[in-house]
Amino acid sequence: MSLSAEINKRRTFGIISHPDAGKTTLTEKLLLFGGAIQIAGAVKSNKIKKAATSDFMEIERQRGISVATSVMAFDYKDLKINILDTPGHEDFAEDTYRTLTAVDSVIVVIDVAKGVEPQTEKLVAVCRRRNTPVIVFVNKLDREGKDAFDLLDEIEKKLGLNVTPLSWPIGMGQRFKGVYSIYEKNLILFNPHGKQEEEETIQITDLKDPRLDKEVTQAAADTLREEVEVIKGLYPDFDQEYYLAGELSPVFFGSAVNNFGVRELLDCFVEVAPAPLARETEERVIEPDENVFSGFIFKIHANMDPNHRDRIAFLRICSGVFERNTNYLHVRQARKLKFSNPTSFMADKKTVIDEAYPGDVIGLYDSGNFKIGDSLTSGEVLHFKGIPSFSPEQFRYVNNADPLKTKQLAKGLDQLMDEGVAQLFSRELDGRKIIGTVGALQFDVIQYRLEHEYGAKVSYEPVVLNRACWISGDDKAINELISRRRKDIAKDKDGKLVFLAESAWALKMAQDNHPEVQFHFSSEF
Ligand code: G4P
Repeated sequence: MSLSAEINKRRTFGIISHPDAGKTTLTEKLLLFGGAIQIAGAVKSNKIKKAATSDFMEIERQRGISVATSVMAFDYKDLKINILDTPGHEDFAEDTYRTLTAVDSVIVVIDVAKGVEPQTEKLVAVCRRRNTPVIVFVNKLDREGKDAFDLLDEIEKKLGLNVTPLSWPIGMGQRFKGVYSIYEKNLILFNPHGKQEEEETIQITDLKDPRLDKEVTQAAADTLREEVEVIKGLYPDFDQEYYLAGELSPVFFGSAVNNFGVRELLDCFVEVAPAPLARETEERVIEPDENVFSGFIFKIHANMDPNHRDRIAFLRICSGVFERNTNYLHVRQARKLKFSNPTSFMADKKTVIDEAYPGDVIGLYDSGNFKIGDSLTSGEVLHFKGIPSFSPEQFRYVNNADPLKTKQLAKGLDQLMDEGVAQLFSRELDGRKIIGTVGALQFDVIQYRLEHEYGAKVSYEPVVLNRACWISGDDKAINELISRRRKDIAKDKDGKLVFLAESAWALKMAQDNHPEVQFHFSSEF
């Protein structure tokens, strides 16, 4: 098969949601459709259980299991679909943010009762910055929830998406009768004890069709007719071009656990979602069908098991063909590396692969060569854009608790930061080191790993900080900010200037007083 045929066959996407909205259940149903798994429950191990939040070793262990499900591939309608897993646990949100840099589109799952929740807002904001095409799946229609119109409003307001419903629910909870597919013009009837084979679909091209009344009762049919009229007046027709530009998001309704509405979602997805896209580098735009191979590392998973110290670096292939046992240029280190065991992950199976194509994600065993954002190429010097660090939200001073191990500490911190576990800032005024993370759990992980992997000891001290923002602007404006707010200025690991805000108010004050300075919530601007 030609390279362009391989590329056109691939769809690489992520499913994002607030924990418990139904991401795992939906993933599993999609895999069932593709025949990648045979039984329900096979993906469950992927989930980090809430009960274990205080026990970081347990959480890391579970996260270790989830390495196996980092990428789940399945075939459907002649397409090869790669789902990149995004950890649901909010302490690993940064892993999820970075995974979003490696997808071409996303499906957002929203719980009909809870509506748009905070984690979803943050994740969709990352997608919007990158103009990633978004499809929304409103889940749990078998339960009572919010009014569908109110939900669409909430999605538009809180997520900043323009939406258009492509299916519409008929009742909900106890009265849930099914959905009308505006996209396929058919009625799909809900059977609360149904299985996917039993999903009953009736072609109804004209909503005046009396069969509608017969199937869902006259009252429900009338409501549907009225609501579809309102939809026509309120929302634009679906347009693939706008969707692909990240400007219009189709919305589907269903119930993942009942496998209801999932096939409609998948059928639309395979029709409209983008094949692997071109990627920007600092040097030039990389088209996927270029003959020369290129890719970037977007996630590194370290093994917490002391007997298996190796790490797995996840590589997204952007162009050409990746081949096993072939020398590639590790651009940052300017040296050649080859890989004898590149791995693909498929639900519960790991397989060594000989070749991989644009859109694919493979795991590379790594002894410490890689850091997040590194590029690997056939020889060209390329630096992929769009793999930023995200503004952390939790901070602690980090102190060396064993002065005899200063070197080990420096090395350990350096490597952990390369893995993207957290970010290290150095305050300009006094040189004190501050660790910033997205989730509180990372502090325990860092302390444990420094001790067990590097033989170094750290202690933490609280620091009153709310946000760290990267700053840019002309020299005069920056210098003025630095001279006035010296104690709030730090440098990140790459020497970039950062403003440390004690509170949301302090940040606002700084923004108001220094309008010429731009404050950024991600390291890429
Ligand atoms: P997550 O990955 O987004 O965190 O969510 P997950 O799929 O694990 O789903 C969270 C809970 O919601 C699960 O129940 C799951 O069964 C349930 N769920 C998913 N889809 C639907 C749906 O369409 N309708 C209803 N009513 N529930 C749904 P749980 O009790 O936490 O787990 P389990 O014991 O059922 O596995």
